[in-house]
Amino acid sequence: MNLTKAIAGRRSTRDYTTEAVDEKLILRLIDAAVQAPSSMNQQPWTFTVIRDQALLERISQEAKAWVLATTPVGEHSSHFQTLLSDEDFQLFYHAPVLVLISGNEPNQCIENCALAAENLMLAAYAEGLGTCWIGFAQGYLNTPQGKHALGLPAEWTPVAPIIVGHPKSAPAPIAHKAPSIHWIG
Ligand SMILES: Cc1cc2nc3c(=O)[nH]c(=O)nc-3n(C[C@H](O)[C@H](O)[C@H](O)COP(=O)(O)O)c2cc1C
Repeated sequence: MNLTKAIAGRRSTRDYTTEAVDEKLILRLIDAAVQAPSSMNQQPWTFTVIRDQALLERISQEAKAWVLATTPVGEHSSHFQTLLSDEDFQLFYHAPVLVLISGNEPNQCIENCALAAENLMLAAYAEGLGTCWIGFAQGYLNTPQGKHALGLPAEWTPVAPIIVGHPKSAPAPIAHKAPSIHWIG
């Protein structure tokens, strides 16, 4: 797929079929992710691929409870409070796969993993797959309990939890704000 088309066409997908994502396809997405630039070419990322639906459901419940317990009152809208309190709302939208990109080097860990994440999401779109970064899971996954649930070493930093799957329906287009550009010279 043409790169400009992929950049313009990718949308966060929150509605998936139950079809599994082929393992070779997942490996191709990770291969795209690791082509990203990284500070001092450290390539400080690790990929945890979770396909165990019972584990994803457990993490969703624990992450929702963690967000509700740790977010100061008023920081989230009442819409999010209601959603996170809903037992039936799954943070991962029942996607067949969660790929968690974690940093294993503290230096510019977020920047490096975020670049890998965008590559992965664009590559997935070019393969006809949907993705969505699930920021609501990130804080919990960074706790000792969250790392333990996935068997992550304590020194890793979970940065980008990205769900991947076959879209059931095409996400609606969204409007983009005009960029604020400050020309100098
Ligand atoms: C850092 C980050 C965290 C996000 N967290 C969530 C999330 O927890 N749940 C969700 O449904 N979407 C999440 N999203 C998706 C955004 O809502 C989405 O990117 C935004 O609405 C723009 O839509 P688009 O991705 O289709 O362009 C997140 C996106 C980013 C970049």
